[in-house]
Amino acid sequence: MVTSAATAATVRYRWPWDLPSVARAAQDDLLGFVHDHFEAKGDRVRFVVGPKSIYRTRSAADAHRILVDDAKQFDKPRSGLGIDPVRTLLGNGGLILLNGDTWRRHRRMVQPSLLRSRIAGYAPIMRQVAEEHVARLTPHTVIDLQQFFGRLTLDLVCRLLFDVPMGQDYDRVRALLDDVQASLARVATQPAWAPTPNNLRYKAAVRRLDRFMFRLIDDRLAQGAAALAGRTDVLSTLCSAADDEDDRTFTRRELRNELVTLFLAGHDTTALALTWAGFELGRRPDVDAALADELGGGDDRTYTRAVLDETLRLYPSAYAVIREANTATTLGPFEVPAGSNVAVWSIFIHRHPAHWPRPLRFDPDRFLPGAALPTAPGAYIPFGAGTRVCIGKHFALMEAAILLEALFAKYRVDTTDVAMPRIVAGPTLSPRGGIPARLLPR
Ligand code: HEM
Repeated sequence: MVTSAATAATVRYRWPWDLPSVARAAQDDLLGFVHDHFEAKGDRVRFVVGPKSIYRTRSAADAHRILVDDAKQFDKPRSGLGIDPVRTLLGNGGLILLNGDTWRRHRRMVQPSLLRSRIAGYAPIMRQVAEEHVARLTPHTVIDLQQFFGRLTLDLVCRLLFDVPMGQDYDRVRALLDDVQASLARVATQPAWAPTPNNLRYKAAVRRLDRFMFRLIDDRLAQGAAALAGRTDVLSTLCSAADDEDDRTFTRRELRNELVTLFLAGHDTTALALTWAGFELGRRPDVDAALADELGGGDDRTYTRAVLDETLRLYPSAYAVIREANTATTLGPFEVPAGSNVAVWSIFIHRHPAHWPRPLRFDPDRFLPGAALPTAPGAYIPFGAGTRVCIGKHFALMEAAILLEALFAKYRVDTTDVAMPRIVAGPTLSPRGGIPARLLPR
């Protein structure tokens, strides 16, 4: 039994002899591998393979300290497994990776295009596209929820982020984004420098995407300020965004990096949250009935939101948040040298019995008004915390609620025959093999 008082210990592997077995274990089941260390050693684990240590924590107090109170001591990491391929894709730029003044400037410039007031206008398009996708489904057939929500959210990226007109270009950008995302999942846990077939395929996919993105950006910039002002998609808004402080606009490359960042950070994360929500709803008739009740009633969406909040507790798509100490510091009993990576494992904080009774049970009631949520800061961080909190949180929650409603108002989804899938901790948290679900009309 884990206690709330954070304990700590070191897990040491021999360099280089243990490297292949560590790499294999991490690739086969990263979540299980890290979980076992926490269970065996406590809430803070120093993981040593070779000359460098990685510091891992599942303490809510550490999360709050690293992301909020002492955030200035921690930067986005410059390198590490899983980070290098993202750097390749984001051209070493983009909000997710940037630090310091450049990050602050980009955040100031991107933020307005994702404000709650601004994105409210996207709701009708989200609803329309979702209803089109649902209308194409055949009752009593089995669909893969991950594929269904993946295609639907990708369609929304193409419309709302880029506003590519339906037709050849639309199919092309959809295919390019799909390809890059699938390739990234294959290389996420491999060293980026190795000329493996997967790495080479990945780099080629990024180059193809780049050619398309630059053409799209150039076409949009050529339309001029007046035409851009009349458009509502995120690309057009970013093309005309100017910094409040010095009036500078984004360069073409910065625009490309920010757009690909928004795609990367926002597409799969939302699709997978919906996939996991569908999986749980499909095997919990009581929760499904409460949701259907709300959807069949008025405009109140309190229960829908609780279902999403609970999904992101148990299956936070961004399951760990990583930082690099920019100065020597400590983590519990550990001395953490400057330059070390510190990983906050949100998923294990969200499943920590010190904060969440019956943590593995899917129970949206925890999030209903009046329920006793944990009071410890850092105990619930699906969108991160502090200055680097997810910039797309409102967008994601609005999109997820609309898409969930579109499917669940029409269908009951049956996943009772599906065994709990292995949870793959790749770029996001996905079910190995997808989630097959039978569609039963309401
Ligand atoms: C359910 C869906 C989503 C989840 C669970 C999620 C989660 C997160 C988390 C945990 C972070 C903080 C990472 C860190 O501190 O290192 C983050 C940052 C970010 N997210 Fe999201 N996100 C979601 C949807 C979106 C969407 C829809 C967009 C864009 C439209 C988006 C764009 C971003 C960006 C650009 C950042 C970096 C912000 C910065 O560092 O300034 N996310 N997200």
